[in-house]
Order: sequence, then C-alpha cells, then structure tokens
Amino acid sequence: MARVLKLNNGTQIPVVGLGTYKSPPGQVQQAVKDAVSVGYRHIDCAWFYENEAEVGEGLHAKIADGTIKRSDVFITSKIWNNHHAKEKVVPMLKDSLSKLKLDYVDLYLVHWPMGFKETAPSLPTDASGYSDVDYLETWEGMEECVRLGLTKSIGLSNFNSEQVERVVTNCKIKPVVNQVEVNPNINQKKLIKFCKDRDIVVVGFCPLGRSNYAGRPGFPSPTIHDPEVIKMGEKYNKTAAQVVLNYLVSLGVVVIPKSVTKSRIEENFDIFDFSLDKNDVAYLDSCNKNERCSPQTAYKDHKYFPFSIEF
Ligand SMILES: NC(=O)c1ccc[n+]([C@@H]2O[C@H](COP(=O)([O-])OP(=O)(O)OC[C@H]3O[C@@H](n4cnc5c(N)ncnc54)[C@H](OP(=O)(O)O)[C@@H]3O)[C@@H](O)[C@H]2O)c1
Repeated sequence: MARVLKLNNGTQIPVVGLGTYKSPPGQVQQAVKDAVSVGYRHIDCAWFYENEAEVGEGLHAKIADGTIKRSDVFITSKIWNNHHAKEKVVPMLKDSLSKLKLDYVDLYLVHWPMGFKETAPSLPTDASGYSDVDYLETWEGMEECVRLGLTKSIGLSNFNSEQVERVVTNCKIKPVVNQVEVNPNINQKKLIKFCKDRDIVVVGFCPLGRSNYAGRPGFPSPTIHDPEVIKMGEKYNKTAAQVVLNYLVSLGVVVIPKSVTKSRIEENFDIFDFSLDKNDVAYLDSCNKNERCSPQTAYKDHKYFPFSIEF
C-alpha cells in the first residue's frame, strides 16, 4: 500500500494525515508533536478550526528539535465561507500563514462551495447571511495564492461532481484534490471515480465516522462500532478503526483521522502492514448508505449547496 499519492502538479500527498477539527487549544499542540514523532507528515488544518496557532507551535517544536524540516511535512489550510470574494483570498491565506508561522502551505482549499456574507456569523442561522459570490471568483483568488508562492497547490472541499467539473473547465490552475466526507457509511465510489478521471485525488474527512457523535438522534452509526468490523479486526490483530482506515486507503482515498489521544494517533498510522480479504472488503462495501456525518442541511437552500445531487 503506497504511503504517498502523486498530485496532478507533480507534488505528493501522504495518504494518512492528522485531522485537527475540534482539537482543543491546550491539546492540539501535543497531538501534532505526537503525530510527527510517530511518522505523520501531513496535518489537515483550517482557518475555521480556530487552532492554527497551536498547530503551528506543535509543528515548530518538532522542526526545532530536528525531527523534521519544514519541507518534510504537508500542511493544508482552508478558506472559510465568509471570505469568498476574490480580493479576500490572499489576505485570508496570509492570516492562516501568520497563525501557523509558515511562509507557505502545501495545499489551500476552498472549504465549501457556499459563500456567506462577510458581516454574517461564520455559521449563519438563516438565508440573510448567504452571499452569492461564485466559487469561480474565489478560485481566481486561489490561483493568485499559487502565483505568489503562498501555497504549492490548491484544491476544493465539499464540491459535488458538477461543481468540480465547472472549476476544472474554467480554471487556469487545476484543483489537485477534493476533500469530502468518506467512510464506510458514505464510501463515495462514484465521486472518487469522477475525480480520478480528472486526475484529482479525494481526501476523505470523518474517516472514522466522527465516532464521538455516536448515539445522537439521526446520526449515522460509525462503522468502527459495528461488531462485524470489530470481529474482522481481531482476525488481522487490528482495531476496527485500523480496518476502516486501511479499507479507505485501498479505495484510493487520503485519510485524515482526528485524534488528540496519543495511543489513537499511533493506532491510526499503523495501517500499512495488512490487506483485507475479499469477503471483508465486500462487507465494508455493503455498509454504504450515503449517510453523512456532516450533511449541512441548514444550508440546503443556498444556491451552491453541494448535496442536492447524487454525488
Ligand atoms: N473539509 C471539511 O468540511 C471537513 C469536515 C469535517 C472534518 N474535516 C477534517 O477531517 C478531520 C477528521 O474528521 P473528524 O474529526 O470530523 O472525524 P473523525 O476523524 O472521523 O473522528 C474523530 C473522532 O474519533 C475519535 N478517534 C480517533 N481515533 C480513534 C480510534 N482509533 N478509535 C476510536 N476513536 C477514535 C476522536 O477522539 P479523540 O480525539 O478524543 O481521540 C474523535 O472524537 C477533521 O479533524 C478535519 O481536519 C474536514
């Protein structure tokens, strides 16, 4: 199983990265240090997560102690929805860079296709907070970030197939990835194939089905709690989380499991030394129900809401 995938601009992305959404200040710095010590060379960040400064501290501690050089590690950030106007993109990336204390990121993503008004809350409660800035305009700002050397690559997140196609046919610099939810409850095989045909890699978020939300009404039951998958893991001397991450990587997906727990950070990286047999892959395939942890239905009336079509 390859540990890195090649992107369409010749750069490479490690197939396991550390997620940092809801990783609290006070814990995320240590999580980043633990991850780098274990061998992670990919950290997934975002301006919206409000913890990029602490992520940066963890990273710089590992650079200072000689474990890594800046160039060894792949750092992603994302622009949030309130800042989709073209002239806002470069300043927003510079803001993330100053928090991370970096000169460049490896990948900058448009976090969502939907724009919100600059004056609205980050998560508006009604349509008065929506803006109709076209994500193609945002993309021009993203291209400027590459030209200025502020990021090596640019990409999309939560874009459906039609939105990906619209960017691909109108861009000067092609997106290298589309980061979307991928776990056995929503395995995204159609979107993965669609993106692959356009030389775009899918990065899978919520790979563990956001297991801490289990039991909330209407929330899809995470596959890592499925007794069949737990039993499957015993056969390989692996945990259910390792089985699921191995399965997702075998679909060609880059996974970014989040954890602030050292033992889980180690566990989620130790997935390369086994292959699932045909029956186990078939079982995990059969778990697909197209159910999302992050359906964002509050925004279903937004002009650019992505989840109204099949994929
Ligand atoms: N682009 C987007 O719109 C978007 C949306 C959502 C997420 N993301 C990115 O994707 C990352 C991952 O998604 P996520 O954080 O939502 O969900 P996730 O990675 O599927 O699940 C994280 C939860 O699983 C727990 N966990 C981690 N490893 C485990 C293991 N081996 N066994 C059991 N439980 C385990 C974590 O607990 P502890 O931390 O307590 O160990 C945490 O509560 C995010 O952190 C973020 O970087 C992007």
